[in-house]
Amino acid sequence: MLSNSILLLLLAGLWDVSAAPQQIPLQVPATTIKKLKGRFLHITDMHPDPSYHPKTSESTACHRKKGKKKKNRAGYYGTPYSECDSPMRLTNFTLDYIEKKWGSEIDFVIWTGDNARHDNDHKLPRTPQEIYDLNRAIASKMTAVFTSRGIPVVPSLGNNDNIMIPGPNSITNEFSSIWQTFIPFPFHQIFQRGAYHAVEVVPDSLAVISLNTMYFYDSNKAVGGCEFKDRGDAGNLQFDWLEVQLKGFRARGMQVRHVPPSPGNYFPECYVRYAELALRFQDTIVGHVYGHMNADHFFFLEADDLQLRDTESLKKQKADLYQTLMADFAAMPTAKNTNLDDYAVVNVAPAVVPNPYLPTFRIFSYNTLGRKHGHPRGGGKDKEAQCKLEENRDTWKCQLNEPWHSDPKSPSRSNQLWTPLGYSQYYIPHLEEANKTHPPSFKLEYVTFGRDTLEGSDGVFPVPRKNLPSNLKARQTPYEMKDLTVGSWIGIAREISDSTKKKLFRRYMYQEVP
Ligand SMILES: *[C@@H]1O[C@H](CO)[C@@H](O)[C@H](O)[C@H]1NC(C)=O
Ligand SMILES: *[C@@H]1O[C@H](CO)[C@@H](O)[C@H](O)[C@H]1NC(C)=O
Repeated sequence: MLSNSILLLLLAGLWDVSAAPQQIPLQVPATTIKKLKGRFLHITDMHPDPSYHPKTSESTACHRKKGKKKKNRAGYYGTPYSECDSPMRLTNFTLDYIEKKWGSEIDFVIWTGDNARHDNDHKLPRTPQEIYDLNRAIASKMTAVFTSRGIPVVPSLGNNDNIMIPGPNSITNEFSSIWQTFIPFPFHQIFQRGAYHAVEVVPDSLAVISLNTMYFYDSNKAVGGCEFKDRGDAGNLQFDWLEVQLKGFRARGMQVRHVPPSPGNYFPECYVRYAELALRFQDTIVGHVYGHMNADHFFFLEADDLQLRDTESLKKQKADLYQTLMADFAAMPTAKNTNLDDYAVVNVAPAVVPNPYLPTFRIFSYNTLGRKHGHPRGGGKDKEAQCKLEENRDTWKCQLNEPWHSDPKSPSRSNQLWTPLGYSQYYIPHLEEANKTHPPSFKLEYVTFGRDTLEGSDGVFPVPRKNLPSNLKARQTPYEMKDLTVGSWIGIAREISDSTKKKLFRRYMYQEVP
């Protein structure tokens, strides 16, 4: 059921913010400096399928045969809760809609890949050429909708976009050509090696780092899995690069990505390096954003994950996603016993493709008004005695000894300039009803904000009024989070798993059902 893969990472700068916030868009003359809107789009997993045909059968991936039951027939704009991909009509509709409603309301776009159809029709195998063509089509649409308006787009690859083997090779070359308008010139060479890059979406202040998670993904047999002794492994080289970027960007901060960095998706050693960097640079990274899972959720990277344990307990059972999350949330320590230095939060956004839910996109709001403050500090963790043991010595857990940088006054921890404030999520609840004469319509699914915040009680409107329904329902404001800092996420995780708040739990579990 879970389909694709990728990743990206976004960092915000703490330094030199007196000159900010202003944005000099890429490939646009410096004279067109825009005032920041304090919002960005996260769009993921579009999965356009040129072979999709309305009225065909879901069992043929919506490619052939008339669907027997009306219920299982492919819809004109897509087939909700199905295993079919998106008709081009739906991806176009979505991007045209976003252009119209959000084109002048956002500062940049994070676009976590998977822009090809799934390879799930044995009668119609997907070819590399088709993957490139689909990516090129979507990329040119993204350019027309965003880049041409001076809105930087930061793409990352999905597993269905096909970069498995270390570059440079014909695949990285092809993508570097397809994404030419998105990848800043200084990163072209590194992109050809590994399909990762970074974009300063607000120059000198806020950057997005796009990672190629295919080198960490445990289903990719073409890479080594970040083993400590295999320093030339593509995953290790990418982490070395990331570390250099983070050091360089230190006192900046935020992240985005596709294959979520959970033990279930990453090679164990890749996960250790990812989690360690996320925590070591907690004062620099303002967020981790992913696609790939096609399901709306969040989870934590924890210092605990870097402890040495016997291998038995490390093996996580492959339980249902939400049950696993709920068990994790319920097991969080009490507020008094929680050290916020030890957590990073990963946000996983739902997909545009209505597989297995409904077409969705997300608009984040972030603080552009705050002032710089805070002093990043180091603070190493105790080294484990077990690292003396032969079996542990050459693992990343025992080799990562640099001091961590966390700060209660950094943007990931307290609301200030660049702090993510919340997001609003839009979806198409009745996709099956749309037809040639009645196009679908996006509705507000929910916001993380409270009602007061939406009404401008903090002096800003995190969501433009025109993009809110006139009568906001309680189910659209279930969380009432004051911001998206680490502490706020831990708080909401505790509430969701609180057995006395069953309503919130159900809301979280069945986000996608209206
Ligand atoms: C989608 O949009 C592109 C570019 O605007 C256009 O060339 C293409 O024909 C459209 N496809 C469909 C199916 O609407
Ligand atoms: C299209 O959908 C609308 C609303 O669901 C319906 O009233 C109309 O009859 C449909 N048209 C066609 C051609 O199916």
